[in-house]
Amino acid sequence: MILSARPRLLRVLDREPVDRPPIWFMRQAGRSLPEYHRLRERAGDFVAFCHDPLMAAEATLQPMRRFAFDAAIVFADILLLPRALGQDVWFEAGEGPRLGPLPDLAVLADQVEVSIGRLTSVGETLSLVRAALEPDRALIGFAGGPWTVATYMIEGRGGDRLAARSMAFAEPEKIDALIDILVDSTARYLAMQARAGAQVLQLFESWAELLPEDVFERLVTQPHARIVAALRAEGLATPVIGFPRGAGALVENYARAASVQGVGLDVQAPAALGRRLQERLAIQGALDPLLLRQGGAALDARVEQLIEQWGNGPYIFNLGHGVLQDTPVAHISQVVERVTCR
Ligand code: CP3
Repeated sequence: MILSARPRLLRVLDREPVDRPPIWFMRQAGRSLPEYHRLRERAGDFVAFCHDPLMAAEATLQPMRRFAFDAAIVFADILLLPRALGQDVWFEAGEGPRLGPLPDLAVLADQVEVSIGRLTSVGETLSLVRAALEPDRALIGFAGGPWTVATYMIEGRGGDRLAARSMAFAEPEKIDALIDILVDSTARYLAMQARAGAQVLQLFESWAELLPEDVFERLVTQPHARIVAALRAEGLATPVIGFPRGAGALVENYARAASVQGVGLDVQAPAALGRRLQERLAIQGALDPLLLRQGGAALDARVEQLIEQWGNGPYIFNLGHGVLQDTPVAHISQVVERVTCR
């Protein structure tokens, strides 16, 4: 029997059978790894770090050396895009991202074409990583979902998204215009990443929660569908995983209409919901990062349960959100070994 070197992640996204679910973790690179802290100290400013291809490639590869993950995700950040569009973005140590005032939308729209030229370092990182990575391991590129990026651009920081959600009702034309700019720039950014070596693209829609059905359709599902359509119009067949975190029951609408090949599920996702989705596309998730941090027999039991409930369909083993920074590396190995050595 000839064993295919084609990465399991790509096979699952094509709904081909695999020997076991592929595994990778959102935020697998970063502060849970001691070697990341050493790199981070050398790098200084986080935005400069993301834009340094050699350092970003090293950060991308660190978890690949330590764990038997099936995929690497390029080290970058969803907020590089608004920065490339001309809005100030910086990271306060120990606090998180901060953004300057939202520029005039006409000014932003003018920046869409040139913004991609300010993101070529991410393409260079992808090329470096692809050259270093074994052929049976996939490389993932990513961007933020337009709505999530818009919430940061409007609020200037993470938070309750009250201002952004209010704007969706009070100034619908303005929100739609901002989303249009982000759909266009995100599609170009992802196309550049695919050409540079990304074999899978993930849209991180981290703040898909708390939107009424029609607003969710307008600000989350349709923008994602337009991004995928723009990639296909460019002749790019790269599979896309959408992760509308917090969508709850609306994830079914999303899976029907967003044109994605995989859908990320958060920690709440019911087993039966996942199985219904698998009739149409691959699902990814949904181990609780808190349980990963806690470890022990409860972690093993949940890993077995997830594989039991979803492993017979197209399933990508992952978390329901990112790795927490104080997660012991032994717990990550524990899960990776359980999933890969079966
Ligand atoms: O390993 C990977 O997953 C790839 C790298 C990656 C980062 N950010 C690096 C990062 C990815 C995929 C992201 C996505 C991202 N960035 C999201 C979507 C996923 C999610 O967590 O919901 C969001 C909302 C952001 C914006 C962002 N960047 C926040 C809110 C923060 C601060 C909170 C935090 O965890 O520190 C960041 C900083 C950030 N992005 C770090 C890393 C490794 C930590 C920076 C540091 O080293 O100090």
